[in-house]
Amino acid sequence: MGLGEVSDLVSQARAAMRQAWAPYSKFKVGAAIEAEDGRVFVGCNVESASYGLTICAERMALGAAVVAGARKPRRVVVATDVDPPAAPCGACRQLLAEFGLDLEVVAVGPKTERRWTLGQLLPEAFMRESLDR
Ligand code: THU
Repeated sequence: MGLGEVSDLVSQARAAMRQAWAPYSKFKVGAAIEAEDGRVFVGCNVESASYGLTICAERMALGAAVVAGARKPRRVVVATDVDPPAAPCGACRQLLAEFGLDLEVVAVGPKTERRWTLGQLLPEAFMRESLDR
């Protein structure tokens, strides 16, 4: 799939990025998740003066999807203002893994993009099957 086919998602991720509250790191992140049914859910990072409370853009977008009943994310675009584009952090990879490792992950910076499947980003993921004992 070419970047043209995800251009609407890229626009929505960048619009979310502009809403980020990141006065401490100054690092704004936006995420747009496209669900299997075509709906799109966005998130941005929100920081706190109590730094450890910070929530990442990807996890906010995933929460928005889940609360709307969209449990089958197909693709996520993560927008930052850096090239090469920043990949999702480990905590976000793990939470996204809950809903499938075949998720397409697209990271976009101002000029370039990178793509993976979530399975590539999180090999040997801890999955719910391990809880079946
Ligand atoms: N951040 C995200 O929103 N997503 C990531 O995957 C990595 C990091 C945010 C958290 C914090 O507000 C800022 O980027 C710098 O770490």
